[in-house]
Amino acid sequence: MSRIAYVNGRYLPMRDAKVHIEDRGYQFGDGVYEVCEVREGRIVDERRHMARLVRSLGELRIRTPMSLAALGIVLREVLARNRIGYGIVYLQITRGVARRDHAFPPPQVAPSIVVTARGLNQARNAALAGNGIAVISVPDNRWGRVDIKTIGLLPNVLARQTAIDRGARDAWFVDRDGTVTEGASSNAWIITQAGTVVTHPADHAILRGITRAVLFDAIKARGLAVEERAFTLEEAYAAREAFVTAATQIVLPVVSIDGRRIGDGKPGPIATALRAEFHRYAEVG
Ligand code: PDD
Repeated sequence: MSRIAYVNGRYLPMRDAKVHIEDRGYQFGDGVYEVCEVREGRIVDERRHMARLVRSLGELRIRTPMSLAALGIVLREVLARNRIGYGIVYLQITRGVARRDHAFPPPQVAPSIVVTARGLNQARNAALAGNGIAVISVPDNRWGRVDIKTIGLLPNVLARQTAIDRGARDAWFVDRDGTVTEGASSNAWIITQAGTVVTHPADHAILRGITRAVLFDAIKARGLAVEERAFTLEEAYAAREAFVTAATQIVLPVVSIDGRRIGDGKPGPIATALRAEFHRYAEVG
């Protein structure tokens, strides 16, 4: 069965799903995206993802191309046509097609919209979480508004590839103050020796992860102390547990950072429990 994508009003087999070479996403990375987890064919936390999408579009002054209700129908149609049970749905909106010019095109230029979906291997994801992952640290050399979920991800791409080249799975960005901001495609967390769960504040230096937001509810329900504050790489090395969060992997324990073992080098019990409990706190539409 060929995969089906939605491209500007049409559902097309992947091989025919094309965008114009003067699309501003292609030319400038001038667009935004969202990735939602799909379980049993249903979208997890759609409302929050759509709210973040609207915010990202607003920050870049890109028009929302259709109502959120219509967008929800498109997302579901793509999932149905691809028969996705467990996986992800990807949505990208760019400023549209116009002759290359850095300045915004005239307002009548319609944004471009693409939706794809992909099945993920649940057993493989569970095994990954069961083993935990290695991460490395890299300098955070991104722009100052990574709270906007733009498709301009070159530093993230390079960071992830550096991690892979060094035999790790993910990279953690570290800013000039030695503070861990977030992962290449995830939010970064530690649990201190005192048992406090710590993650970077949701300012302009990180993406305000939806998984991150929902996890606060799970953490609070467990009665754990939680702090949104900057933490250093040194503090992370000394942590009792570490983990990352993202829609594609929910909670993924980190067992080493820069080759240094975290805790006893196995997935931590709190991270593992939070992973198991997460969907109780998520919204499923
Ligand atoms: N990335 N930080 C960055 C830089 C990310 O790219 C992501 C997600 C997150 C976590 O956000 P959320 O919990 O809303 O997925 C944090 C997606 C999954 C991606 O690029 O594929």
